[in-house]
Amino acid sequence: MSQEQWSAVDRYISGLVVQPDAALDQALASTAAAGMPAIAVSAAQGKLLHLMARMIGAERILEVGTLGGYSTIWMARALPAGGRIISLEIDPRHAEVARTNIAQAGVDQVAEVRVGPALETLAKMAADGEGPFDLVFIDADKANIPEYFTWASKMLRAGGVIIVDNVVRNGGVLDDSGTDANIAGVRRFNDLLATLPDVSATTVQTVGSKGYDGFTLAIVGG
Ligand code: SAH
Ligand code: DHB
Ligand code: MG
Repeated sequence: MSQEQWSAVDRYISGLVVQPDAALDQALASTAAAGMPAIAVSAAQGKLLHLMARMIGAERILEVGTLGGYSTIWMARALPAGGRIISLEIDPRHAEVARTNIAQAGVDQVAEVRVGPALETLAKMAADGEGPFDLVFIDADKANIPEYFTWASKMLRAGGVIIVDNVVRNGGVLDDSGTDANIAGVRRFNDLLATLPDVSATTVQTVGSKGYDGFTLAIVGG
């Protein structure tokens, strides 16, 4: 099994069930043109986030880690009338590209990008009583995943859903040496998950155009 094969199967699947969308294509193209990394979720994963949001009837969504707004647009397209998505991004240049992409996708009335270190933005949002959110997607720096999860839990409705990207890292999650801050963050997150009695969670390993990785799905409270 090779990356080439995973990517080919991903293209096959996306070709069948992921409707072509010029705005999403353009979001990826402008992200690349701006020299930003090609680390957005894949089309199939974007569709998964979109379906999850619809499955739970999410009206308020929070995203941590915007990049060029690709996943933001996928989730914004799942919102019912009156719904809202807020996405947090540390890099003002990324946020600017994302805002442009969000506008050209026609979801700028429902999607908002907030600039700053997510730990600070989340603390402020919680202090301001923002939320409750139905769905949170955590996809920023991996070192702070446990902290993002804890803040997200505080602003989540009872029984709300948190999805965390990049929790397998090519199997690197088994490395307990602590030398890689990203892996260490994922492992601290897993240790935290194992201790939380009001969280029901699982982690699914994935392969595809983004390599071998995985995501965690959690329902908190409720
Ligand atoms: N969710 C996006 C991809 C996000 S990539 C998509 O799938 O389309 C991760 C993003 O998190 C990058 O844009 C990076 O700048 C941002 N990021 C990294 N550290 C951060 C922090 N401390 N606070 C907020 N955003 C951060
Ligand atoms: C990286 C970040 C991501 O969110 C991702 O999905 C893949 C890779 C990274 O920082 O390398
Ligand atoms: Mg990711």
